[in-house]
Formats: sequence, structure tokens, C-alpha cells
Amino acid sequence: MKPAVIAVVGSAMMDLTAYAQLLPEPGQTLAGQHFTTGFGGKGANQSVMAAHCGAEVHFIGKLGEDVFGASILDNFVKVGINTEYVERSETPTGVAHIWVDGNGENRIIIIPGANHEIGSAKAVDAINSIKDLSIVVAQCEIKQEVTLNAFKAAKARGCTTILNPAPYQEISAELFELCDWIIPNEIEFRELCGELPASDEILKSFRPGKNSVVTLGSQGAVYISADRQLLRVPAPKVTAVDTTGAGDAFVGAFAFSLASGSDPASAMTLGIKIASLSVTGKGAQSSYPDQAEIATLS
Ligand code: RIB
Repeated sequence: MKPAVIAVVGSAMMDLTAYAQLLPEPGQTLAGQHFTTGFGGKGANQSVMAAHCGAEVHFIGKLGEDVFGASILDNFVKVGINTEYVERSETPTGVAHIWVDGNGENRIIIIPGANHEIGSAKAVDAINSIKDLSIVVAQCEIKQEVTLNAFKAAKARGCTTILNPAPYQEISAELFELCDWIIPNEIEFRELCGELPASDEILKSFRPGKNSVVTLGSQGAVYISADRQLLRVPAPKVTAVDTTGAGDAFVGAFAFSLASGSDPASAMTLGIKIASLSVTGKGAQSSYPDQAEIATLS
């Protein structure tokens, strides 16, 4: 296995999560059962998962000069993520307001805050200076031009790029072309492709000549290879208590595995196992298996 050196250009948020059996209708007030404050943000989640798997992770992002920013930074250090490329700002740290219902399904509103102040020049400098970098990962909670410039720099030095197009936003043709991998969920796939990934034909029509993985929740995931082969990896049956951050767990584990030299099928298998475990616990990063638990996964 080669060392997995990964840069994540992305978001970090503090997740403020309310758990309620039923979610309120407009104008209705309901009593929930539980509230948590936890580490989140799609970029941070993917970084933490990749680090738990054993990757050397460099997070490129921006946090507020506030209590949330300080504790997110402490958490990165605790997990072993390189924070040299994390900047601070007077703009508050990003927050996510999350509602989770009795089936473990969530609704999320993010307030990006400092995440929207990450600058292209900083991101490009970081990518150019990380030794032995092999994969650059991004999502859509920061400004798209930053991802575009980061991916240009990544491609210029021969790195693999992975875009998780979440939450969905229109992706420019230039950025789309620079993505070696795109990993959407079903809803993001529909936004990108115009149809749900309901048949092999639809799946094969997506990004000919390029690799993609579509995550399908409890159905697992499907790999669409550049030469139009499909590979479905089912998910183990589990009881979901909170699906928040499961897609990020998949992306982080997948990126680690690819960067370590595994083939896409093995990378997906690891990603699915870890994402399935994550939905059995509350929160995003708080539900991720640690290194010891990951080592027990065959
Ligand atoms: O993907 C889950 C994440 O989305 C949460 O942690 C929340 O912060 C939002 O970014």
C-alpha cells in the first residue's frame, strides 16, 4: 500500500442538530427529543474520515476567529490533519442547522460564513506545496472558482481530482472537465443528468469517458467506469438513526483507498462499509468509525 496523501479544499462547519420523531410543518412548534453540537461541514467530514482510515490529510479552508473556529481547529489537530493551510477570518465560522427525523433522515440549512472567503491563490499555493500529493478532493460548500483553480493546479502536477457535487449547484463545463471522479448522490445525479439513476442506460449516459460513482443510500453505490462498465456494490442492512455525513464518510474512505493504490471496486467497498456504520450513530464526524474499528473491517 502506498502512502495516501490527500488535500481537501473545502468547508468546515459546526453542526447544530435537533432530533425529533416528527419534523414541524410551517408555522408549527414541536418538542424534539435531543440536541447536539458536533463537528461537520462536508470538507471537514471527508478529511476526518480519510484521516481515520490512515491518510495524510491537508485541509485547505477558512474558519472564523470564534469559539466554533477554535474548537474545529483543535479537533483537526487531534485527528492528525495538517492545519497549516487553514486560515482564520473575522467572518463567523460556518454553521449547519440540522433536523433529523425518527427515520434518521435529515434536512440541513448551512450558513457558509468564513467558508466563502477561502481564496483561490491560497488554495493553489497549498496544492503546489504539498509533498507527494496524489488526490485533491472538493465539494460545493465553498466558492466554485476556488475549486476550479485548485483542480487546475492539481491536474498541472498530475494529481487525481474528486468532486463531490454537494450540495448541488450548477457546475461549469470547465470544472466538470477537470474532475477525474464525480461522486454525486441520487438527487445530485438527477440535477446533473436530468434523470434519476434508475436504469443502466441512464447511468451509462453520464460523463462518457470519465469515471463516476453514484451513491444510492441504503442501496449502496454504483461505479460507472470511463469505458461504460457498471459495478454495483450493495450496502449491508443496518438500522439508520442519523444519515448526516454518510456520503462524506464514503467520499473520505474512497479517496483514502484510491490514494493508497486500491482499485475502484475495493475503494467503493471500503466506502460503503464505513458509510453504513456511520448511519448507526448520531451526528456526522461523531458517528465515524475510528482507526481501531476500521482495522476490524474485512
Ligand atoms: O454532509 C453532511 C454535512 O452537511 C453536515 O456535517 C453539515 O455541516 C453540512 O455541511
